[in-house]
Amino acid sequence: MKITVVGAGNVGATCANVLAHNEVANEIILLDIKEGVAEGKALDMWETSPVNMYDSRITGVTNDYSATKDSEVVVITSGLPRKPGMSRDDLIATNAGIVKSVTEQVVEHSPNAKIVVVSNPLDVMTYQAYLTAKKDSREVMGMAGILDTARYRSFLALELNVSPKDIQAVLMGGHGDTMVPLPRYTTVGGIPVTELIDGDKLEAIVQRTKTGGGEIVKLLGTSAWYAPGAAAAQMAEAIVKDQKRVFPVCSWLQGEYDLKDIYIGAPVILGKNGIERIIELDLNDEEKALLNESAKAVKDVMDTLDGMDI
Ligand code: NAI
Ligand code: 2OP
Repeated sequence: MKITVVGAGNVGATCANVLAHNEVANEIILLDIKEGVAEGKALDMWETSPVNMYDSRITGVTNDYSATKDSEVVVITSGLPRKPGMSRDDLIATNAGIVKSVTEQVVEHSPNAKIVVVSNPLDVMTYQAYLTAKKDSREVMGMAGILDTARYRSFLALELNVSPKDIQAVLMGGHGDTMVPLPRYTTVGGIPVTELIDGDKLEAIVQRTKTGGGEIVKLLGTSAWYAPGAAAAQMAEAIVKDQKRVFPVCSWLQGEYDLKDIYIGAPVILGKNGIERIIELDLNDEEKALLNESAKAVKDVMDTLDGMDI
């Protein structure tokens, strides 16, 4: 069984490392366009195998898609961060071009692969991969919700002084400041979180979650990788092991939540077929309004992409 990770930068390398460490697949391919980078990182990871006691083979390649042939899952992390002087639209065009060319090669060599996009802007890059792959939308998805809920859960664990393992949560919407954490669907060991924390503190945690990516950028000068890499690896694992995990995933909505023709985060069941089912929650009016606002923000960027000649 083979999993490919495209992009051997911070997120891609971390994802490959988690996949190998957890022996999610016996073959892991790490691919990058920069000569030697994927080979070097993969070799370094493989040299940890006797220490960390795993035998998943990790191979690094420079743009050689023949090595990725017949992958079950391909995680796409290739893309540039926004640079000084670069407009948001420049970033969209650059990364969409990268995602398009990567997806074409992925599909040529692994026509049955489930594609998990990580590159930003996430919802719209997932849409680009879907347009290019011409696959069933259940097989093309984006990673953001696991990361965003992980941040939310980890902040709640600190506030409540409980194990993050016992916090379950759902979050919807786009991967940006308009994302919609859902306190009504958040539990701590089965107890509704609203019974354990006062409203102001919970609201502050919701706000911190929405800007959680920016918080790391401010500290590091670049975006996060440990949590994003681990989150993408968790999606790949759910698919290759047919775990039927319930996760928030950037998915193609066709009428669910009264939203159509949009890639946006929603709770799904993830298994060997990719997105096996999109779960429809009974949102209240306030939650629906927040989701619609987020959908509008995502749709605006999708429209920008549609207007470009990628
Ligand atoms: P990075 O700059 O460390 O790595 C990107 C890698 O992509 C580089 O090694 C680069 O050589 C490679 N690359 C560029 N063009 C390529 C191509 N055509 N084929 C193969 N490889 C190519 O960036 P990092 O930190 O790993 O982030 C990657 C992407 O993930 C960014 O777009 C970032 O914004 C996004 N991201 C998304 C998150 C999410 O929740 N969805 C969370 C964190 C990052
Ligand atoms: C993150 O949320 C920037 O998407 C990136 O860390």
